[in-house]
Amino acid sequence: MAETTTHVAEPTRRDFLFIATGAAAAVGGATLVWPFIQSLAPDAATVAAGAPVEVDLSPIAAGQIVKVFWRGKLIFVRNRTPEEIKAAEDVNLASLRDPQPDSARVKPDHAQWLVVYGNCTHLGCVPLGNQGEYNGWFCPCHGSVFDTSGRVRGGPAPINLPIPPYAFVSDTKIIIGQEEATA
Ligand code: FES
Repeated sequence: MAETTTHVAEPTRRDFLFIATGAAAAVGGATLVWPFIQSLAPDAATVAAGAPVEVDLSPIAAGQIVKVFWRGKLIFVRNRTPEEIKAAEDVNLASLRDPQPDSARVKPDHAQWLVVYGNCTHLGCVPLGNQGEYNGWFCPCHGSVFDTSGRVRGGPAPINLPIPPYAFVSDTKIIIGQEEATA
């Protein structure tokens, strides 16, 4: 399922706050609609201050990537298909510029979900999802390529798309901005 990033203007902070404070989320396949997902948000001022953002994963279809903003940063939440997971796991780490096993980039028992910052690690453009040689992301600015684990596989980006702090509070809900509780 396609995910679009550059066909529409970047949302403003004001747009995000509007969404985060209870407006209906736009989730779906329409190519010109930003697939924001609803965050069960505290009030706008708290969000602006960087409060954790709760994300309901249940509307996100297999293969779909949605965008969330946390602390003003774009974050991709990707529901990976079994094929995408396998492709990410079957990589020779020695071939990677920034070697990281896929298992280190997802939460245990939740390999289906990849959560990464959404700006290219070269100069910060927004890469296009489900594109590029590895069907992960492709950055149209200078050609960086990322795989389905968000790892850089080509172009000038020096490192993988970083992972923000987040935690699963159930199988269908994460909180971005909150670390996983340790047992
Ligand atoms: S900003 Fe992405 S390749 Fe340069």
